[in-house]
Amino acid sequence: MKIKAATVREPGKLAVEELNLGEPGIGEVLVKLVASGVCHTDASVMNLKAPTEFPIVLGHEGVGIVEKIGEGVTTLKPGDHVIMSFPSCGHCANCSDGHPYACDQSVPLFFFGVYGDGSKRITDNDGKAIGSLFGQGAFADHCIVAERTAVKVDPELDLKPLCSLGCGVQTGAGAVLLRMQPKPGDTIAIFGCGAVGISAIMAAKLAGCGTIIAIDVVPSRLELAVECGATHVINGRECEDVTAEIRRITNGRGVKFALEAAGVAALITTMLESMENNGLAIMVSMAGGSVNMDVTRLFVGPCVTFAGLVEGGANPRTFIPKLVEYYKKGQLPVDKLCTYYSFDDIDKAFEDSHNGTAIKPVVVF
Ligand SMILES: NC(=O)c1ccc[n+]([C@@H]2O[C@H](COP(=O)([O-])OP(=O)(O)OC[C@H]3O[C@@H](n4cnc5c(N)ncnc54)[C@H](O)[C@@H]3O)[C@@H](O)[C@H]2O)c1
Ligand SMILES: [Zn+2]
Ligand SMILES: [Zn+2]
Repeated sequence: MKIKAATVREPGKLAVEELNLGEPGIGEVLVKLVASGVCHTDASVMNLKAPTEFPIVLGHEGVGIVEKIGEGVTTLKPGDHVIMSFPSCGHCANCSDGHPYACDQSVPLFFFGVYGDGSKRITDNDGKAIGSLFGQGAFADHCIVAERTAVKVDPELDLKPLCSLGCGVQTGAGAVLLRMQPKPGDTIAIFGCGAVGISAIMAAKLAGCGTIIAIDVVPSRLELAVECGATHVINGRECEDVTAEIRRITNGRGVKFALEAAGVAALITTMLESMENNGLAIMVSMAGGSVNMDVTRLFVGPCVTFAGLVEGGANPRTFIPKLVEYYKKGQLPVDKLCTYYSFDDIDKAFEDSHNGTAIKPVVVF
């Protein structure tokens, strides 16, 4: 079928093209998109800051309605409303163990534009194969997705604000609720208050953290952080010593948990130096670059666990339905993050994401 899709053929250039979408293969479904969120990772892919293969259709926070199912699909049917998430192979050791975020095939399935069988689903009018980011390619009116990548939701719900449950929100909320698992009263610092960081703040509030410190350089983002549960804010541009300020807020102890979601490599050192003894520091951003620090400091002085984490350590099939329940109860007000754009204005959506005007731009079809 003919589709209109936002495609990257060379770094930094996004263009809406008419392309040809094939049929859903075994274990795949065809989805008519309702909306699709812009995640910072789309821009990283477009600007070759991820191991990508061009040409590729961007978009990996799609929500929509199943239009057609491929052979062997048993859990979805035409008419089902779905939130699409990240892909995984389904049969490596980590997938078999319920840890699809650590799938052995994550890099090709996320970034090379291929599906589980290694092939692509889109061609251009010259017959050239075009990739689909995250096994979605969700900046298009239709896309093909693996059954295991799509999570069915209540058709009564407005799908549009739920886009980023598939990636950004799952990443922030999952890092807190699934990996850190804070106890009521615990302390946490969140570096970067974009969609990922704010979701982590909402999750920290949900878990009952007593001290939630939000760090950003944009005042409006810090205001939103407070609205979403931050108990303290630090403007990284105005504060001369962020670590000292975190220690001051925590009576000298440092924080038990911290998340880096700002995309700034230098913040890793700041984060590690702000931890309390036995603290857990997690990095999720595509910061790139390297950090210069004496690694002995990870255990001489406060001993700190430092981890990188994909998609909040979540299994979307079980975690996204929980996030939807929190949203319905008003405990995860992700609609506060969204600004809506028509598909024709996708360039503006990317621009507003880049310049910080919009936290979660959502393209509506
Ligand atoms: N690991 C994963 O699975 C995963 C999933 C989704 C997104 N990501 C990555 O997570 C990161 C965050 O994503 P997002 O969509 O929330 O991005 P975003 O750009 O909306 O948020 C980043 C925030 O960091 C702030 N910031 C910039 N410099 C800062 C500094 N020096 N100190 C403090 N704050 C600073 C910005 O003002 C912004 O509010 C991106 O790098 C994205 O690629 C990773
Ligand atoms: Zn993403
Ligand atoms: Zn796998």
